[in-house]
Amino acid sequence: MKNTLLIFLLFFFTGSSFGEDGYRLWLRYDPVSNPRVLQQYRQTISSVHLNTTSNILTVARDELLKGLQGLLHKDIGEIYSERGAIPEGCILAGTPASSPAIRSLHLESQLTSSGEEGFLILSVSIKGKHAIAIAAHSDIGILYGVFHFLRLLQTQQNIQGLSIHEAPALRYRILDHWDGLNRIVERGYAGISIWNWHTLPLYLDQRYRDYARADASIGINGTVLNNVNANVLVLSKEYLLKVSALATLLRSYGIKVYLSAKWSAPIEAGGLKTADPLDPQVQEWWKEKVKEIYGLIPDFGGFLVKANSEGQPGPQNYGRTHADGANMLADALAPFGGIVIWRAFVYSNETPEDRAKQAYNEFKPLDGQFRKNVLVQVKNGPIDFQPREPFHPLFGAMPKTPLMMEFQLTQEYLGFATHLVYLAPLFKECLDSDTYTKGKGSTVATTISGMAGVANIGNERNWCGHPFAQANWYAFGKLAWDPGLSSAQIAGEWIRQTFTNDPAAIDTLKKIMLASREITVDYMTPLGLHHIMGYNHHYGPAPWWDKASRPDWNPVYYHKADPAGVGFDRSSTGSNALEQYAPEVRRQFEDVKNCPDAWLLWYHHVAWDHRMQSGRTLWEELCIKYYTGVDSVRWMQKAWESCKSRIDPERWDQVRMLLSIQENEAVWWRNACLLYFQTFSGMPLPAGGERPDHDLGYYEGLKFPIAAEIK
Ligand code: GCU
Repeated sequence: MKNTLLIFLLFFFTGSSFGEDGYRLWLRYDPVSNPRVLQQYRQTISSVHLNTTSNILTVARDELLKGLQGLLHKDIGEIYSERGAIPEGCILAGTPASSPAIRSLHLESQLTSSGEEGFLILSVSIKGKHAIAIAAHSDIGILYGVFHFLRLLQTQQNIQGLSIHEAPALRYRILDHWDGLNRIVERGYAGISIWNWHTLPLYLDQRYRDYARADASIGINGTVLNNVNANVLVLSKEYLLKVSALATLLRSYGIKVYLSAKWSAPIEAGGLKTADPLDPQVQEWWKEKVKEIYGLIPDFGGFLVKANSEGQPGPQNYGRTHADGANMLADALAPFGGIVIWRAFVYSNETPEDRAKQAYNEFKPLDGQFRKNVLVQVKNGPIDFQPREPFHPLFGAMPKTPLMMEFQLTQEYLGFATHLVYLAPLFKECLDSDTYTKGKGSTVATTISGMAGVANIGNERNWCGHPFAQANWYAFGKLAWDPGLSSAQIAGEWIRQTFTNDPAAIDTLKKIMLASREITVDYMTPLGLHHIMGYNHHYGPAPWWDKASRPDWNPVYYHKADPAGVGFDRSSTGSNALEQYAPEVRRQFEDVKNCPDAWLLWYHHVAWDHRMQSGRTLWEELCIKYYTGVDSVRWMQKAWESCKSRIDPERWDQVRMLLSIQENEAVWWRNACLLYFQTFSGMPLPAGGERPDHDLGYYEGLKFPIAAEIK
């Protein structure tokens, strides 16, 4: 009777009778929907044994019980005693240090390859009883193993004969929050910051815990709490106490806290006259500050620094190099085991001949000059998180310096949180690109030591604004753990955990997700066009814009359209940005005749009547891309429509409405861009294609004083 009631209550509170607001992300733990699979799991799993000798292990135990009770909707027993025999169907989790039962399995040699954060999940037999062991060297490995095991159940995998060995490929897997202390999130489209600085340190919002669970479930092990355009206040005692409260909570999930440090802090907060990294007083100030931080946060991760970039101060203000600056901070952090993550997103105050070349020009000569605890963080492409960019030439070009990849999860240039764009294909395109810097097969993924993702998280109920934007947070974590995973694999498991295990729905959603990034490229910036969005807020198309104070903030700088053609010549006849790449890479793009279409206008200024590989002219091809982009959004709408009965009504309707915004905006992009480029090509729009509803003047006149980002 008690059991029946429990099952009823569990079903009632976790089952589909409750509204889906997206808060639970991919950790929903609703009862396994397939009765056959559910029965099998219920027969296989009886109980849990996990010695909670640390906070992380307590979190792991709680998650395991919560997950199993939800998924199996069955009461799961806990086995406490080591001496009592392990019962049939026990999930046995622990490190050799925390669990005699795990020790008795003698997994030492297998655990060697798991490293500090990896884990094993094995079907084992102990004194004739079947059990599943989740084993690791470290407590955090156990927590990762628990999430992995729960994922197997959430995605309805076979759990017989398990032999899983996992270890992360990259050491640093960090979310960068561009969150202001006033809770405004730079380029944030999902509400205000989740960090409520006002109520910290005494009030710890449940959201912090759920954030930490979500991060840990995909292996994220670091978080930069504040915006790279940093406020020095975060380094004050008052705020460090708040940071410390968050760090304490996040520590139980294996997440280290990092802070963005403002270069001029010694002046602004310390009252010094200079922030020159070679000045002894400046060095002393940072040493004292770092000591203070570690006094409060013994496992503080370190500093992320944006210096001499977009108006931020830096060592160059004092005639010093980026290496001088990074090393000074690195020396202060080294005694405590902290690191400096120094961003390579720099471009000089003078207008460059080609902004795409700047980071390489500044950083390549510094290779070998950084301290051991410095990582240089490089955006995926050389401009700025565009829908498509070639990989950044610094990858593979600084063999003596560990590099971090910086991806942007928040969709600053990809339709904000209103467009459905699954970013794994964009990440993969970059990670899988061959740099050839150490011969064939030197992919970008092999050149990095860590990965940072600019977070797309805010205090919206569903965290990311668009229900599908959660997939970008998820994909980021999964790829930072294993860059070898495919976009399809990640999409598949995310859909199963987040929406449904229904095969027809999985198939449709996966198709939508996998196509979505290319569709966005088609209706925004096809054929290698880039940075032609609205000035500053980056909302919608504005290829005509030429009024920014710097030429390289203007779309016209990037597309260079004129009656002769369109595109930025970065080949040897132009800026020769291509020379920053290995010869094998250069050869793929140097010649306009065989440069792949996707990158054509990135690397070449191309005549409007140039014959493309398809046999069409460039103008015709451009039109086809923009029209296809819009048609494909309509295809996404139809596909989504077809899933109506298979998706919960709340999220189905949200996505339906968002897709209609996306369709409107895709049409806007197509019309505005084609009408504008037509003023140069003088060629007609495709016969029979939908006509633009307005003339170019209308689109040029649209103003967005308040775009989606909260300012
Ligand atoms: C982009 C973005 C800025 C951000 C900058 C950075 O330029 O628009 O808001 O500060 O990148 O990465 O530092």
